[in-house]
Amino acid sequence: MELTADMTNPAFPTLVNDINAFETETDESTSTNATVGEPFVENPRMTCRDVAVYYGEKCAINTISIDVGRNEVLAMIGPSGCGKSTFLRCLNRMNDTVSSCRVEGDIRLDGMNIYDPSVDVVPLRASVGMVFQKPNPFPKSIFDNVAYGPKIHGLTSTKEELSYVVETSLTKAGLWNEVKDRLHEPGTGLSGGQQQRLCIARAIAVSPEVILMDEPCSALDPIATAKVEELIAELREQFSIVIVTHAMQQAARVSQRTAYFHLGDLVEVGPTERIFTNPRHQLTEDYITGRFG
Ligand SMILES: Nc1ncnc2c1ncn2[C@@H]1O[C@H](COP(=O)(O)OP(=O)(O)OP(=O)(O)O)[C@@H](O)[C@H]1O
Ligand SMILES: [Mg+2]
Repeated sequence: MELTADMTNPAFPTLVNDINAFETETDESTSTNATVGEPFVENPRMTCRDVAVYYGEKCAINTISIDVGRNEVLAMIGPSGCGKSTFLRCLNRMNDTVSSCRVEGDIRLDGMNIYDPSVDVVPLRASVGMVFQKPNPFPKSIFDNVAYGPKIHGLTSTKEELSYVVETSLTKAGLWNEVKDRLHEPGTGLSGGQQQRLCIARAIAVSPEVILMDEPCSALDPIATAKVEELIAELREQFSIVIVTHAMQQAARVSQRTAYFHLGDLVEVGPTERIFTNPRHQLTEDYITGRFG
């Protein structure tokens, strides 16, 4: 990027890493709103540049750029309908399954363009796993729920290896002690919180780089929520996690960076503590103080 703008102009963006701000300054024809704060990190795991998403003619995400860092929990917040789930689903091409949906821009995982026609979405969705709002275990045993991914991806060659992967995944998901004596009972027979941790174990079992979570606790009671939040904190040591949440306290508890979305725009990104104590954008402030949303 060429920094040829007039730096004496008070409108010149002060945040050097805010590419959107420069683009807005230099190209008045675009309706892109500048993202305030620090959307980019050093040595990112995923990079998203100028991502726009349409359902038919309707624009749901309006040309946004952001990185997902390594070993970080990135929280996405914002009012209902602002495009959080739409954007999250772009990160593992889950939107491919919606026929009216069109994704523009560039999204990379460790430098690889995930929308390149040569990319096979099945291994991509193992590398960038997903946990949904409502726990959705397969109608299979607890063991088979976790073993399914490693089996179809050919990650293990012996029964012993498979059992090892199932045990370590359930352990990392904080569920092993609760289920080790009932591995062959149906996954759907577990409590809601246990089912959600089973789904997290299922995502972990295929050695992902990134785990996407779309409101993973909204169907859980406070105790189950606390367990999943504890688990998210532990998983950060190994994975990058992007979590959509409506609970601002949850974003504050579990994430290191927070991104605030508003009507398809990425308004502000920054360290979570700053976003919640000293937001820079009026829209972020209105939302976190409860004046909007
Ligand atoms: N499959 C779809 N077809 C058409 N429009 C859609 C589809 N999914 C989402 N949208 C629209 O895209 C916009 C963003 O929706 P999205 O579900 O991403 O919002 P969200 O921020 O996740 O909201 P919530 O907090 O309610 O989950 C909304 O206007 C929504 O109506
Ligand atoms: Mg959503």
